[in-house]
Amino acid sequence: MNALLLLTRIAAVTLTTFLLMGMLGVGESATAPYTKPTLIAHRGASAYAPEHTLPAYQLALDQGADFVEPDLQITKDGVLVCLHDLTLERTTNVAKVFPDRAKMVRGKMTWPVSDFTLEEIRTLDAGSWKEEKYKGTKVATFQEMIDLVKGKAGIIPETKSPETYGKLRLKMEPLVMEILKKNKLDEPGADPKTPVIIQSFSAESLKILKNEQKCKLPLVFLFGGPRAKEMGTPEGLAKLKEFADGIAPHKDNVLAQPEIVTEAHKLGMSVTVWTCRAKDPGKFENVREEMNHLLRNLKVDAIFTDNPDQFPR
Ligand code: G3P
Ligand code: CA
Repeated sequence: MNALLLLTRIAAVTLTTFLLMGMLGVGESATAPYTKPTLIAHRGASAYAPEHTLPAYQLALDQGADFVEPDLQITKDGVLVCLHDLTLERTTNVAKVFPDRAKMVRGKMTWPVSDFTLEEIRTLDAGSWKEEKYKGTKVATFQEMIDLVKGKAGIIPETKSPETYGKLRLKMEPLVMEILKKNKLDEPGADPKTPVIIQSFSAESLKILKNEQKCKLPLVFLFGGPRAKEMGTPEGLAKLKEFADGIAPHKDNVLAQPEIVTEAHKLGMSVTVWTCRAKDPGKFENVREEMNHLLRNLKVDAIFTDNPDQFPR
């Protein structure tokens, strides 16, 4: 009778431990270069602070981001700055400060980043558009972003529209590698507290990094839309593996085609998805539920989110 009681207790304790481990995510692994289900702060904590500014990056750190994401653009004088768009008007007051410098593109007034020097861009307010309390926040350089994040989280820069800059004789890939080298972040494991992964929608950019720049850092290929179906097949993934260590499909592609995760893992490729947002949790009750499903049921390795504080640990 005592032995039966003891066995029952052992079974109960074991079951509870497993349940707790599952709830806490203990023991969950991920495909390299990730070591655990990984939180990437998309444009910083961009749901709460102006995207790609130092306050957004600082808030991402405060909210426990494993990686912080800067999208990269290039100024007229060849400096890497953290901006999502090729142009300045959505996230700064450039239209007010430089009304005469607009270009007309497809019937729309636009202010390309590459038309402005860093000194000019530094005169702009990159915070007010989000919230008055951020008035006066400047556009951040990639170097400033590194200075803030290094030693506290990983960095996952995206080469944005590198072909556009290439036509202007501004080559993005050497600039990225140069700045990473200067900060001693250009080799895997160089700073264990600051792993670096480079991402791009441009296959060509990743090929340049790998083959010309001899970049040894993990490279991740971003994609989405209808092309994902073909790319997610074993044959499609094998082609991507020639120049990328991991894939980053849009979340809808993974939700519609979950086998893409297992197929990528079979090839040793990590899977990062973009972008989970509290304002758009799709069919889920909230963004935490959405991220939980992607991580725990579909086994993706990492998630870009605008809401780092909602990441299910
Ligand atoms: O880089 C991942 C995700 O950020 C891709 O979308 O347009 O926000 O850069 P986007
Ligand atoms: Ca991005």
